[in-house]
Amino acid sequence: MTKVPTSRLDKLLANLGYASRREIQMLAKNGHIHLDGVPVLKADIRIALTPDLETRLVVDGEALDPLPGVALMVNKPLGVTCSHKEAGPLVYDLLPPRWRRRDPAISTVGRLDKETSGLLLMTDDGALLHRIISPKRHVAKRYRAGLARPMTGDEAALFASGTLMLEGEEKPLAPAKLEVLGPQEAMLEVHEGRYHQVRRMFAAAGNHVETLHRQSIGGLALPDDLEPGAIRRLGEADLAAIFDRGSGSG
Ligand code: URA
Repeated sequence: MTKVPTSRLDKLLANLGYASRREIQMLAKNGHIHLDGVPVLKADIRIALTPDLETRLVVDGEALDPLPGVALMVNKPLGVTCSHKEAGPLVYDLLPPRWRRRDPAISTVGRLDKETSGLLLMTDDGALLHRIISPKRHVAKRYRAGLARPMTGDEAALFASGTLMLEGEEKPLAPAKLEVLGPQEAMLEVHEGRYHQVRRMFAAAGNHVETLHRQSIGGLALPDDLEPGAIRRLGEADLAAIFDRGSGSG
């Protein structure tokens, strides 16, 4: 049987971004924290971090935020950046303010360019993040690209060759699958996450990507009802779908 981790209540809530440990002790003392409907007056108690804690522990009348180990999907809008180093609004601004103060922090699983939209995953679980981005796992990412010029017909073979070298790199790209959707529109499936990879691949084929949208990661597709800027928590089935090589991905 796996051992359930425990935490001091004040530490748990401080790490979830609620307040400082001292302030949490005051919140408890003043009856703002309830466990199973009963006020918890001292915040130095140890508490088992079972998943049901999210409904059993209530702070200021609200159910607890997701426990550590949360995974999210975001429909990243255009113009929003994944990096603190770039100018402009950040994907982190899409999170509820308290979630931005968590420790461990919620970070993006890889990145999308500022001018790329679509499915972006976020998590505070480092092991999960590495499993998704590890080249060994071979998780497919599917992008819909709108191009400046009609394709020549040579692109699919070039991308599938396993010999395409991007400028400034020493290792050829692994084979990638191109599906032509129209003269200037294609779906590209890649298994790597190199810098500006899709844009650079089409540039190597003499074209230019004008619009780029990530449709899926592994077998997890961006749901049609997730509006740009919206966030949804991933469940066990979604996480399994990411690593499911068999399933088609929207
Ligand atoms: N490839 C790109 O060129 N940009 C992205 O944002 C993702 C993949």
